[in-house]
Amino acid sequence: MHHFQYKNSELFCEEVPVKQIAENVGTPFYLYSHATLRQHFRAFDDAFGDVNHLTCFSMKSNSNLSILRLFYNEGGGVDIVSGGELFRALKAGVDPKRIVYSGVGKRAEDMEYALQSNILMFNAESSQEIFLLNEIARRLGKKAGLSIRVNPDIDPQTHPYISTGLKENKFGIDINRALEDYTAAAGLSNLTILGVSCHIGSQLTKLSPFVDSLKKLKNLIRILREAGIHVQYLDLGGGLGITYDKEEPPHPREYAKAIKAELDMKDLTVILEPGRVIVGNAGILITKVLYAKVTEDKTFVIVDAAMNDLIRPSLYGSFHGIQPVERRMRRKVKADVVGPICESSDFLAKDREMERFDPGELMAVMSAGAYGFSMSSNYNSRPRVAEVMVKGNEYYLIRARETVDDLVKGEEIPDFLVKTVL
Ligand code: LLP
Repeated sequence: MHHFQYKNSELFCEEVPVKQIAENVGTPFYLYSHATLRQHFRAFDDAFGDVNHLTCFSMKSNSNLSILRLFYNEGGGVDIVSGGELFRALKAGVDPKRIVYSGVGKRAEDMEYALQSNILMFNAESSQEIFLLNEIARRLGKKAGLSIRVNPDIDPQTHPYISTGLKENKFGIDINRALEDYTAAAGLSNLTILGVSCHIGSQLTKLSPFVDSLKKLKNLIRILREAGIHVQYLDLGGGLGITYDKEEPPHPREYAKAIKAELDMKDLTVILEPGRVIVGNAGILITKVLYAKVTEDKTFVIVDAAMNDLIRPSLYGSFHGIQPVERRMRRKVKADVVGPICESSDFLAKDREMERFDPGELMAVMSAGAYGFSMSSNYNSRPRVAEVMVKGNEYYLIRARETVDDLVKGEEIPDFLVKTVL
């Protein structure tokens, strides 16, 4: 369920006509519905209401400060993967004791920043990282909360670029040698072993990989207990998929039910790191049609948003629904929706049976709330777009469109180049 619906043939976000926002903010822009974000967070979080848990929103999917704050107000924490994400989370007012830090390549300075900020725990992904964390904590006179992210070797049955829990992936420590690393960590004086964690992939549409991996994690927790190592947290990562097109992923309720049925360790606090399932269908990208070009082979609808604004179709061949902001009688066409970037991979939809658009019309690219703005770039020197949040009949600019000055921020031409005259 989301709050992007037509009323009298016009697309609305909650109570605000999308067209009205476009007139004031310009295009392209990301548009989020507050009610949808909150509803999705609550649906997920409430599904685990009867177990000790912490829902740590995976902010790589959407790191806008207002969105982080919204989930924090709802009782959530965040899952971070960099010093930059930590900075954003703290800036949004998130309590560091609700922050978990995953990532295969944590830099020493970022670990130091996280330790100084007193985050809940680090999900370490290699033996070397564990030793370095202990070393940094010792130097700072701190104790680092440690969890080991294990790689359970489970096939999540999703796109290979977003599979993370297979042996061949770079993520985590092989579950079969985790005991060795836990034992080593237990002997290090500036670490406190807190948990076991995993994340097997993203956009999963089946429950079985989650359950299979939980079984393996439970087994590891038993082995650790036998070795005298007790953990309080079980971090199951994120990964639950959404409907972009015809996918039928389980509802968070079913996901939680399957997890809870398998979870018989009452003394554990479960950490969940959902991203996409919360924000994916709570955001859309609004773009304007610039031209329609009909060649011998194809029809191209050229719009003002591009792969730098939403890279998912180019990178993974992902499907995003294309809808008009104003509904009217239209002929159907088969077309590519493309942006202005100088790459043939710059498309938002390919060979799509869709409605015909005329220049000047507004188009909505659906399901763009996750990994949309957060993966955007300045390629082709395109300022990053605005982000807007609607709440009821009001809308708020939650991130201003970048200016051309932002594009050159920090750049300087050294004197020797300025002085060179031909
Ligand atoms: N936890 C960790 C450690 C992760 O690496 C991720 C996502 C998540 C949680 C959240 O996963 P989610 O619930 O959103 O599936 N750019 C890709 C997705 C990459 C996911 C990376 N890790 C896309 O646009 O499909």
